[in-house]
Amino acid sequence: MKTKQTASDKRTILVLGSNGFIGREFVKELLSIKRENDQFYFLNRTFPAQKIEGVHYFKGDFTHFDWTSLPSSPDIVIHFARNSSKRGRKWGRLLASFKGYFGNNRLLNYLSIQNKKCRVFYLSGSLMYGNHTEIVTEKTPLQPISFAKEYIHAEQPFLTNQLKNIDVTFVRVPWVLGFGSWFDAFYLKKIKTEQTVPIYGDGRNTMAFILNQDIAKCMVHLLDNPFQPVVNLAYDYYCTQAEFSQKIANKLHLPLTTIPIHSFERAIKEAFTSSIKLGSELKECDFILNNTSVEGKIDDFLGEIG
Ligand SMILES: NC(=O)c1ccc[n+]([C@@H]2O[C@H](COP(=O)([O-])OP(=O)(O)OC[C@H]3O[C@@H](n4cnc5c(N)ncnc54)[C@H](OP(=O)(O)O)[C@@H]3O)[C@@H](O)[C@H]2O)c1
Repeated sequence: MKTKQTASDKRTILVLGSNGFIGREFVKELLSIKRENDQFYFLNRTFPAQKIEGVHYFKGDFTHFDWTSLPSSPDIVIHFARNSSKRGRKWGRLLASFKGYFGNNRLLNYLSIQNKKCRVFYLSGSLMYGNHTEIVTEKTPLQPISFAKEYIHAEQPFLTNQLKNIDVTFVRVPWVLGFGSWFDAFYLKKIKTEQTVPIYGDGRNTMAFILNQDIAKCMVHLLDNPFQPVVNLAYDYYCTQAEFSQKIANKLHLPLTTIPIHSFERAIKEAFTSSIKLGSELKECDFILNNTSVEGKIDDFLGEIG
């Protein structure tokens, strides 16, 4: 839906991590409803394979990027660039997260000395809330588990932000359904190579979901909404990991295989043995998230495998 544009609507939008699994989907949605005067700055460590006309691309590591090189300071920052580590497990993630901490502090310092208000949207995960069998809302205290135990350090500058001209919104999402990320690594690869659908451990942990495209729609919608410090985005639907695998198996007519998890590292074990029932006290995105049958949406997504 296009909104009426006024002169004050002129926005400079900086997206960190626009090439990534979720960032890619977000920028598609953002550009599809762009306003005439919007300016877009996309920053990643590498340029994308294909550039989109009208977007300014910047290449660099946000942890030491020279923010003064931007043609103008942003009104909105969308941050998908969690500084992650592919190696070194816990210690690698800790190091990456501390770099992220300093990088995020530098970013806030730069934004704070600009003569304008800036909104920052930081995409985070539900692992920050910890293991819960009850519904978790925006008010639930953080108790990071799994990968979040290390990655929370990078979020500290935003969690403790007191700067008057910067409003930080944490957007927290659960298991993101899309072709990439954990679904690719833990399910699709196994399905393709072994023609079987895995269940990790006993499969009793509860999962909450959101489709990648729905994160994009919700986040674009939130850009125009009044400030909220935290917004959880998830469907009003939960199932156990075993039920999730069973759904895939039914769809693909494949058998299930239990994968023992004792040999996985601590973070993966915790991710597959912890429950998350991510909920929200906010209704802003209900018209996107719970407008049609959630089971139907998940079913349609699983139907695209193959
Ligand atoms: N995927 C999920 O299921 C899931 C679930 C919950 C929460 N989240 C959160 O969502 C966020 C995005 O996740 P994702 O799955 O989209 O991750 P992703 O695919 O790894 O994408 C991250 C993007 O950030 C860029 N990036 C990373 N570090 C950077 C740095 N130091 N400087 C500049 N750019 C950098 C990467 O660019 P280059 O490739 O060019 O380096 C990449 O485009 C993360 O914070 C994650 O915690 C994800």
